[in-house]
Amino acid sequence: MQQSLRKRKCLLAIETSCDDTSIAIINNDQLAANIVISSADEQTKYGGIVPELAARKHEDNIIKAFKLAQTKANIDINDIDMIAYTNYPGLRVSLNVGEIFAYTLCLLLKLEPIKINHIYAHIFSFWDFKSKINFPFISLIASGGTTSIFLVKSVKDIILLNETQDDAIGECYDKIARELDLGYPGGPKIDKLYDSKQTNINFLMQKNTHNDKSFSFSGLKTAVLNYINSSKMKKQNIDIVAIASSFQKIAINMLLEKLFFYTKQYQCQAISIGGGVAANSLLRQEIRHYFKNMDIYLPDIALCGDNAAMIAIYAYLITK
Ligand code: KG4
Repeated sequence: MQQSLRKRKCLLAIETSCDDTSIAIINNDQLAANIVISSADEQTKYGGIVPELAARKHEDNIIKAFKLAQTKANIDINDIDMIAYTNYPGLRVSLNVGEIFAYTLCLLLKLEPIKINHIYAHIFSFWDFKSKINFPFISLIASGGTTSIFLVKSVKDIILLNETQDDAIGECYDKIARELDLGYPGGPKIDKLYDSKQTNINFLMQKNTHNDKSFSFSGLKTAVLNYINSSKMKKQNIDIVAIASSFQKIAINMLLEKLFFYTKQYQCQAISIGGGVAANSLLRQEIRHYFKNMDIYLPDIALCGDNAAMIAIYAYLITK
């Protein structure tokens, strides 16, 4: 009886692409649960992600995440009528755990799994089930694994415009933070230290990249690491706040320049960001300031990093 009264689908989503084990449930057109169990603490001692360790943690945590999500959403396993999971991109050994879990549940419930591209899910992680999306829009996805700009024409028509040729911006945050002994993940640590009045170290001979198609962070990362190492060798005082702030200012400006360029080039009236670096306070502040005449789609901070809610949201949108 309960079943037939239900308005819409009950969608379960699984995300295990990196070091976060996450299960989300959309029920009756709203996000009913989003459980994220991170293994970041374990990875801290290695200064970055160890794939085998991440995969083992997914195995340990996936049933726990599933049970917690089920309880939070207050659903019976038989209520689930759609299952989506991240199938690409990510660490192969980590993705495998989510894939096996998805296929096992599908076998049990006689369902077909929906394969979701993790990056496309980040693009729509801002969506709140209500607002109308103003297509086409430009989307920046910036995380530890990718820094890419897309032209989004519809939920299914997504064109990659540009991506970093080397390091992802989050990776630079993490490596610089490690060199400054700030721990992992480095992004939030550097972001917290940021002081707009201490951004005077010019690591790069900053060139104007407005019309420059190349997108690269390794030069900036190397310049900052060299600066730190040579200061250490010369036994000079290391001003962590000035280094962190100057790096962040330049890195975020590099992202903003690309956003200016592509929103103009494609005459878009809307912009979205996603991925772990989308939680960055300077990036969010500058986007709100410089793009105030456009529709700005910012995900909740909790939905910037890896999470299954965005997998569920994207699966919901493409099957609407
Ligand atoms: O999307 P995500 O959780 O995982 C993947 O990389 O797939 O992103 C993690 C990255 C890390 O590099 C982390 O340092 C960075 O996002 N990050 C930030 C902030 N919060 C997380 N970077 C800059 N500012 C932040 N507030």
